[in-house]
Amino acid sequence: MRSAATASSNAFAAAIAEGRVGDRLWLYATYHCNLACSYCLTESYPRIADRRELNDVDMLEAVSVARELGFSSVGVTGGEIFMLRSFPETLGEMAKILPVLALTNGTLFTDRLLDRLAPLEGADVAFQLSLDSAQPRANDALRGRGNFATVVEAIPRLHARGLRVRIATTLADEDAGDLEELCVLHRGLGISDDDHLVRRVVRRGKAELEGIGVPLGPDDVLPELTLTAEGAFLHPFAPTVRNGVTDLDLCVASAPVAFDAALAAFLQETESRPAGDDVVRNVR
Ligand SMILES: C[S@@+](CC[C@H](N)C(=O)[O-])C[C@H]1O[C@@H](n2cnc3c(N)ncnc32)[C@H](O)[C@@H]1O
Ligand code: SF4
Repeated sequence: MRSAATASSNAFAAAIAEGRVGDRLWLYATYHCNLACSYCLTESYPRIADRRELNDVDMLEAVSVARELGFSSVGVTGGEIFMLRSFPETLGEMAKILPVLALTNGTLFTDRLLDRLAPLEGADVAFQLSLDSAQPRANDALRGRGNFATVVEAIPRLHARGLRVRIATTLADEDAGDLEELCVLHRGLGISDDDHLVRRVVRRGKAELEGIGVPLGPDDVLPELTLTAEGAFLHPFAPTVRNGVTDLDLCVASAPVAFDAALAAFLQETESRPAGDDVVRNVR
């Protein structure tokens, strides 16, 4: 058993060194969400029938094994992670094992939730909030009425608790429009350019049904092992949903699958992928 783990770990280290894969583990904690954004990869919304949740024990176990096998960080996404009742405490436990990037829509940070996140002050956790435009109307047209004001108001409250904030901007069309204005806004809120991520809408999930966004090329996203309740996928833009059905084109192993087996299947899938720093990755 130990030698199998060592073999996985060695193969993983080699793939990272070659620039074939990333060293972050992604977890899709839930597909449930309080919002219903017009381009959502996962077709998440408040009344979604199949929430596809990972339970706390499984997530913490995965992160522990990931650390043993040489992963350097974990990203947690959804859906909206804070729709899970116990997520603040689970996040605290996760951060004791590996640095965490927590993707969130930024709309659920009540004082009560922030109190529960207090133990994370000083921990290696970044909260990545989505904000698509400096124009409230343009942002809210994609992410829902009142979204801009709620997210912008949440940022200083997170900072006041000593929590690190990043911003992710998803552009629905080629015209980056008011991007510079958005940068002025985030800098004014104390978020550096290094903590601002910009990407185009990817034509998967709801975006595909709506006919918006850019199609995903085979090497546009750096492969990073991504676990959902349904199995292991090639990268975080892979486990998308259309008309309630998960896309399996980029699934490398179906659930139930042990972590070692998921990593082995992932590495096998990436063996023939291009390696090196000069591979252009268009989506992050
Ligand atoms: C799926 S969401 C999950 C986390 C959280 N609910 C949020 O919105 O930040 C993760 C990120 O993916 C982005 N996203 C959603 N659909 C997308 C698409 N079709 N193409 C590119 N990014 C997308 C969101 O804007 C968000 O920044
Ligand atoms: S993009 Fe995020 S906030 Fe918007 S519906 Fe999807 S999961 Fe929810």
